[in-house]
Amino acid sequence: MQLFSIIIGLLLMCSCNRDNKSKKASDNAVPERGELSIESQLLLGNRLFSEKTCITCHDLNKNNIGPSIREIMTIYKEKNGDITAFLKGQAKPIVDTTSSQVAIMQANIDGFLKIVSDEEMKTIAIYMLHVDELNQ
Ligand code: HEC
Repeated sequence: MQLFSIIIGLLLMCSCNRDNKSKKASDNAVPERGELSIESQLLLGNRLFSEKTCITCHDLNKNNIGPSIREIMTIYKEKNGDITAFLKGQAKPIVDTTSSQVAIMQANIDGFLKIVSDEEMKTIAIYMLHVDELNQ
């Protein structure tokens, strides 16, 4: 009889635990995500700029295969350009309009950028826009 109640007790404990766990799992089903701070967005954007290979053609200060980030941002700020729209193929180039140069970047827009999410593009744009605020 004593063994019986111990077993019942254990079973109850188990089911309680399971209940708790399943409650937690369903809480996680709809994750709440707060806005990332500007610092976090900058760091993430910086990382994506390397991971997505932008860095191979865009140096911070020097023109490489493509114009430098500073040159791009000077013109985008001047002309109130929209980087995300450009990366999505929805806005024309305004920095270097030489057709051979445009073709290089256009190949990215038609290629690997198609699988970069809007959110990632936005973060990359924020990084480019605020790059001066990072100590580089
Ligand atoms: C293979 C080299 C290459 C890679 C990789 C590359 N770019 Fe470019 N990019 C260029 C060249 C060349 C230009 C100049 C032509 C132009 O301005 O459209 C350019 C231009 C740009 C411009 C200015 C467009 C304008 O308005 O004229 C932006 C913004 C830009 N790139 C962002 C990026 C981002 C973000 C990435 C990574 C996701 C990236 N690029 C990856 C070569 C590259």
